[in-house]
Amino acid sequence: MMGLKQAIDALRRGEVVALPTETVYGLGGVATKDAAVERIFAAKGRPRDNPLICHFFDAEHILPFVKDVPPYWDALLQAFSPGPVSYRLPLPQESTLRPAVAGQSTVVCRIPNQPLCLEVIRQLQQPIAAPSANTSGRVSPTTAEMVEVDLGHRIAGVLDGGPCLYGLESTILDCCESSRITILRPGAVGPDEIVAALKQAGFSNVSVSYAEGTQQAVVPGSKYRHYAPEQTLLRVPSVHDVPDDVSCAVLVSQESWAARAWPDSVVPVILGSRSDLPAVARELYQHIKSLDEHHVDAAYYVEEEWGDSSLGRAIANRLNRASEL
Ligand code: TXA
Ligand code: MG
Repeated sequence: MMGLKQAIDALRRGEVVALPTETVYGLGGVATKDAAVERIFAAKGRPRDNPLICHFFDAEHILPFVKDVPPYWDALLQAFSPGPVSYRLPLPQESTLRPAVAGQSTVVCRIPNQPLCLEVIRQLQQPIAAPSANTSGRVSPTTAEMVEVDLGHRIAGVLDGGPCLYGLESTILDCCESSRITILRPGAVGPDEIVAALKQAGFSNVSVSYAEGTQQAVVPGSKYRHYAPEQTLLRVPSVHDVPDDVSCAVLVSQESWAARAWPDSVVPVILGSRSDLPAVARELYQHIKSLDEHHVDAAYYVEEEWGDSSLGRAIANRLNRASEL
């Protein structure tokens, strides 16, 4: 663990430091320093074609780093930043962010709403590249302790900002088109809120929708396994598909756990109630991670109806990617 000044000094030297954000902890390095970007990829074991999100202090800080912003840009930023939303924008041909974006001609920008993190960026006056602070493929950390256990020995330190408020990564919006926004990764903020905010600012002509099919390939990270525990997590359609003659852990909502009589061989990992999705999101990654602490022969996720709200979709998205059929 390190203090604010230590964290800033280490980043200035080109080292990498885990930083708290309101979504998940990020593994930060100064985005314009090639050596720092290289250290981020190395510490995570991240595939070299998977670009890093860049974090900025405020709206003015972003502008010199991007080629173009859409007409609705000010309205969008006004409504959702600082906050759990990231924006994909075109990158100028010549850019100091080239190494951070791993060959893309775009950059995903975010203004986090976490006072310690904002203070770090403000003092450095440079964008901070920060993917989630986990070994590539594993769950994102939502506490400083989770980062310490996973990456502590491979990074300069962790700035402890307490548990993350949301617990799920930011919503990623593709803002490269002038009258259409595509949601590339679901998160706490969804299309209804975005449409309402834009309409209020006079942009009722902008369509907002979730990425479908090939549009999802816009995010290089979506082709890699993510959010997975070490134990293989099998996805089953119903509580009755969990075997009663195998020692296993089962990841279920409170409601689904109550829907069956269970044998002693099944250890419950209760995700919380479907009626309190913010709480489910906040603790989701700790619950997935905890599957590795039970000494069982198998782990199951009973596929749930998380609903159509933005958080419901985000929770379903992470659980489906963490598990396999
Ligand atoms: O909440 C968050 O967004 C957290 C915190 C730390 O800010 N960050 C985060 O970063 O989740 P990461 O690297 O774990 O996920 C970023 C995703 C990856 O799937 C990556 O492929 C995609 O965003 N991405 C980054 N830059 C991109 C770009 N220029 N074009 C398309 N996809 C991009
Ligand atoms: Mg990640």
